[in-house]
Amino acid sequence: MVVPFVQDWDVVQTLGEGAYGEVRLLVNRQTEEAVALKVIGTSQAKDCNENVRKEVCIHKMLSHPNIVRFFGHRKEGPTVYLFLEYCSGGELFDRIEPDVGMSETDAHRFFQQLISAVEYLHSVGITHRDIKPENILLNDKDDLKLSDFGLATVFRFRGNERLLNRLCGTLPYVAPELLSQTEYKAQPADIWACGIVLTAMLAGELPWDQPTESCQEYSDWLQKKTYLTPWKKIQLMPLSLLSKLLMVSPDARISIADIQKDRWFTHGVRDPLISGGNKPLRSDVGLASRSSSDDRMQFSSSQPDLAAGGLEALLIAQPRSQVCFSQPTKLEHMLLGSQLLCTPGASQSPWQRLVRRMTRFFTTVNAEASLSSLKDTCEGLALGFKLTCTKQVTVSTLDKRNNKLIFKVYLLDMNQWVMLDFRLSKGDGLEFKRLFVKIKQKLGDIVSTQKILLPLS
Ligand code: ADE
Repeated sequence: MVVPFVQDWDVVQTLGEGAYGEVRLLVNRQTEEAVALKVIGTSQAKDCNENVRKEVCIHKMLSHPNIVRFFGHRKEGPTVYLFLEYCSGGELFDRIEPDVGMSETDAHRFFQQLISAVEYLHSVGITHRDIKPENILLNDKDDLKLSDFGLATVFRFRGNERLLNRLCGTLPYVAPELLSQTEYKAQPADIWACGIVLTAMLAGELPWDQPTESCQEYSDWLQKKTYLTPWKKIQLMPLSLLSKLLMVSPDARISIADIQKDRWFTHGVRDPLISGGNKPLRSDVGLASRSSSDDRMQFSSSQPDLAAGGLEALLIAQPRSQVCFSQPTKLEHMLLGSQLLCTPGASQSPWQRLVRRMTRFFTTVNAEASLSSLKDTCEGLALGFKLTCTKQVTVSTLDKRNNKLIFKVYLLDMNQWVMLDFRLSKGDGLEFKRLFVKIKQKLGDIVSTQKILLPLS
């Protein structure tokens, strides 16, 4: 990709892609500072430009430890570049194991941070309108960062609150009033989405396709059938909070102030030892004792103050020199670009953590054989398989909810290893991960179990 004005920064890798365009990782050659560059291709359509203008306008006024920092933007012809805080921990959905979720301790901490971000947003009159694990990132300290303000809007201005009417968001996360009424209040709708995120974190599944009574799982929830999945996997204390977050009536739904008084929210996990691993089912909840307040949030901005570093050079208008930046000059950057795996755990340096992702693995055979096995596996699973480049495959299917699921598999040939890197292009992140796990299992014979170390100085 040719990015004009990027001179001392290497584009190290693509971090993600969406309908808007791509997010790339830039690393400064001298200082090694990292920033995320969101590249938005605006068509000449007026409303598209207007949406980007609104995203910039809203995001740049936000400043909170749990919201991705906005450093600045540039417009070059039809392309808008947003310079954002880089979140090396990846997306929250990468921490959710399909059908399991994550430890209650982690879910509790992430939920507290999410509520802190949403409380701040609402306090400045902004609603996000698309809260979901794919729009929640983590930094190197595992602090949560709410991102993507492409659908955000102002709901309160100079103390005057307005009702919203635009139907937007992602169906499994939208509140029922958006589908049943022409106008809705902003804050309860965001709070509902936080409830769905909490369910996904604690159970590893989304409770329904959409909150309409035609959807059986939603009707079951209305009838309080909490002996069914996903509710039966969730402990009583968080389940009690969920019943207040996922309250059908937006006026009866819990407010942020009351979430902050909720017993599970404030005191958290009963016994980190129990909820840290595979959770027992709910039968022993009666033994609940108050845990210590160790889970209090610790806010810290882990990124250096980039405005003081080389970033401003990117933001200051320069003559149209069309500098096409070159290959990374440093070995580490090259390795990062090829996304080598590394040792897990606390010993990871920020750079090592930067490359940790869950939807990739190495194979024990060459690229050609890897590709051929992948093709057979995809065909065996009745998935659409298309070779889009020599080392890139696009896989498409419908998930169990009949929604489109499209992802790419990049084959990275690195001398003795081949890495298969799976990236979601369109569809539900949890469904993507479920399918990834299935494909990896079927490819078992050629999946390398060896840990590959990242040689860092
Ligand atoms: N993907 C999208 N935005 C990102 C960011 N700011 N940091 C890391 N990955 C991202």
